[in-house]
Amino acid sequence: MKKINFWETDVGLKDFIYQKKIFQQNFPNEGNYVIKLQNQIKKMLQVKYCIALPSCTSALYLAVKILNLKKNQEILIPNITFAASANAAFMAGVKIKFVDVNPETLNIDLSDLKKKINKNTKAIMPVHVSGRACDMSSIMKIAKKKKLYVIEDAAEAFLSKYKKKFLGTIGDMGCFSLSPNKIFTSGQGGLLVTNNKQFYKKLSVFKTQGRVGSTTGGNDLHISVGGNFKLSNISAGLAITQLKKVNSRKKILIKNHLNYKNGLKKLQKLKIVNFDIKNNELPLWTDIICEKRDKLFNYLKKNNIICRKFWYPLSKKNFYSNQKHNSFKNTKKIENKIMWLPSSFMMKSKDQRYIINKILKFYT
Ligand SMILES: Cc1ncc(COP(=O)(O)O)c(C=O)c1O
Repeated sequence: MKKINFWETDVGLKDFIYQKKIFQQNFPNEGNYVIKLQNQIKKMLQVKYCIALPSCTSALYLAVKILNLKKNQEILIPNITFAASANAAFMAGVKIKFVDVNPETLNIDLSDLKKKINKNTKAIMPVHVSGRACDMSSIMKIAKKKKLYVIEDAAEAFLSKYKKKFLGTIGDMGCFSLSPNKIFTSGQGGLLVTNNKQFYKKLSVFKTQGRVGSTTGGNDLHISVGGNFKLSNISAGLAITQLKKVNSRKKILIKNHLNYKNGLKKLQKLKIVNFDIKNNELPLWTDIICEKRDKLFNYLKKNNIICRKFWYPLSKKNFYSNQKHNSFKNTKKIENKIMWLPSSFMMKSKDQRYIINKILKFYT
């Protein structure tokens, strides 16, 4: 039996045919293909500005950085997320405060969020885990009342919707990942979207060493500090070919998720975390909350099924904040129970049936 991985991407020679054009034009740097990608994303997500970047981590970093927050000012981040969310804020030099997660949705918990706001709080970074929307209406209401910025970590949520709007386009800025375990990839890459012209201008300058407009690399005017956060034409070209496939991939991801839901619905000891598919939430990965998670993980691994355990809660690490892990009640309740089932759009129906049968066998 061939190994069934948590994720498999689909990059192949078809993508290379398009790359040929990019190689032929002898301009691998950031250029026309990056602009084309940005324009396509703006149109698709109905957003005014898009900047293509080397990763979602750099997008999140830039989003926090251009807010010019002071060292003692705080950003609220969910306690269960990929380290990138916290690393981005940490590198941008702001104080991180973790917020507990909601045990039903695995996203940031609203009641704890309200409790964690104080006079130093300046921003919130909701993370749409696996493409599942945070309660953006409430978050935006709180943010407006308390004058907080909202940076959506939509790394896993490209094309997923909340109340008819695309995730990532609701807060002040939204960031997406184009790493290979996403619905489309550029190898590595990220996208930052915003409707705010001032933010867009600041980002455009900071991402290219503090320069304005087109650059020569030589005697340019630098109006601020900055860095090199350019995406290459080569990566953008791959993203553009990949983008053509997202609609068909979307359908498969939904079908996969519903198959799991249906196949495992009788189990008491395993719960599939819900997606509002009717309202166009898009499940990138199927996450479960289950009893005996580690045993299940090992059992499936022995049967060539590779799942992915959830991230360790960030409060377990001592370098971001001095908050005590024990103070996160919901996190503690679920931290050893959550994992992702194989979710790729490349997964074969017969392989998924095999996974479902093995899980049923494990629990019955
Ligand atoms: C929630 C979340 N945030 C941020 C990132 C970072 O994305 P990247 O690897 O493109 O930097 C990821 C990556 O998958 C992620 O899952």
